[in-house]
Amino acid sequence: MNKILFAASECVPFIKTGGLADVCGALPKEFDKEYWDVRVVIPNYSCIPEHFRNQFEYVAHFWMSAGPYIQNKYVGILQYKMDGVTYYFIDNQEYFNGFTPYGNVLYDIEKFTFFDKAVLSMLKHIDFRPDIIHCHDWQAGLIPVYLKNEFSADSFYWGIKTIMTIHNLKFQGVWDIKTMQGFTGFSADLFTPDKLEFKKDANMLKGGLVYADYITTVSDTYAQEIQSEYYGEGLNGLLSARHFDMQGIVNGIDYKVYDPNTDPKIYVNYDLESFRKKKAMNKEKLQAELGLAVDKKKYMIGLISRLTDQKGLDLINYAMEGITDEFTQFVVIGTGEGQYENLFRHYAWKYPDRVSANICYSDDLAHKLYAAADAFLMPSLFEPCGLTQLISFRYGTVPIVRETGGLKDTVEAFNEYENTGDGFSFANYNADEMLQVINYSKHIYFDKKRQWNQMVERGMTKDFSWNASKFRYEGLYNYLMGK
Ligand code: GLC
Repeated sequence: MNKILFAASECVPFIKTGGLADVCGALPKEFDKEYWDVRVVIPNYSCIPEHFRNQFEYVAHFWMSAGPYIQNKYVGILQYKMDGVTYYFIDNQEYFNGFTPYGNVLYDIEKFTFFDKAVLSMLKHIDFRPDIIHCHDWQAGLIPVYLKNEFSADSFYWGIKTIMTIHNLKFQGVWDIKTMQGFTGFSADLFTPDKLEFKKDANMLKGGLVYADYITTVSDTYAQEIQSEYYGEGLNGLLSARHFDMQGIVNGIDYKVYDPNTDPKIYVNYDLESFRKKKAMNKEKLQAELGLAVDKKKYMIGLISRLTDQKGLDLINYAMEGITDEFTQFVVIGTGEGQYENLFRHYAWKYPDRVSANICYSDDLAHKLYAAADAFLMPSLFEPCGLTQLISFRYGTVPIVRETGGLKDTVEAFNEYENTGDGFSFANYNADEMLQVINYSKHIYFDKKRQWNQMVERGMTKDFSWNASKFRYEGLYNYLMGK
């Protein structure tokens, strides 16, 4: 049996702030249980819903120190099994008691330093010694560092391999070296430019990228992009130096959760045969629920996103008047930076029958919007993979994207003359270019409905389940275990 441990800061259905949680929730379930025992470890946040936490079982506890600032801390290990996967939860009431998994950056860095060391330390207290620890994003970045340094003196840890997966290079866990020494207990020679030092500070993700046996990211294009200065967030030099040990493996989505034919959260279920009529029924119901003009002929564009710079919202800000003409409706779901929340609130006030701003995160409403919308807008500045365009395909909603990262790899631009493609895309980070493409999509929607519907069909029949990508992870795991 091959043993893999996912270490991450979030995982569906327990705790989610972004796509990382969806991946850590969906992927471990996909592997063939006869050969793969894939488990997951995350912190035991007190903001995980009660009904889960009540079912977590106590496994063991111990006391652990890291650097001088993290001394004699309690580490509890809890466990929960679901759908054949074992989940571990690192318990410490002091660190993981917030209303959200993240808050103050410095405290987050301390918490996840504690978490990373606790993950390695817990392996001696559970009946599971992984062949590979699969680390996700900066929060798990110090696991490879601890493994290859402090823990390498202990033969129990010999031969355990690590993978560092980048879901978003923007976040790295950076603080000054002195403080990081205080948290980690690492010796000074680890804080050099070839290791954890980064522009005179210490960088947790960089540590992971230096010490992991292998690096992956969540699409081919992003794997290329991050080796360039524009997308590299200061780590492009390191990433290009390690490019032989790096690949992009595109994310999938959970095809059981996202299935318009069975989804209990949408108003009317539908499939490839019935979407023409039934998507319109979903649209009318949603229009009524959100207080928009009820008219199935309106072109409904959806946006479901964290409202941050990454998502290209300043382009939307610039082009909003042009997007929301009298034949179009725009529905937003998400929370984030105040300026963007207010932007959408403003337009919802200005055009109440056209714009709906849902400044919240509601999974139920998100499903309803995937089912109701005609198009889905993602003009991202960068996008490691993006999951919402994949969900849109599944629901017959046509993505309009900027050609970056995973968006470029998963959306094929519509070609009117050859009748190919499944979405609309533009290359440059430019609001006029975006608006032009949105206007072109309106033209196809209103004037060439047959072609539009064929495009929808092509999108709905694309396969973005984990089927293909899970084999790529298996191949990588096998390669590393043989290495
Ligand atoms: C991050 C990225 C997103 C990706 C997700 C899961 O949220 O921003 O592009 O799809 O991680 O890998």
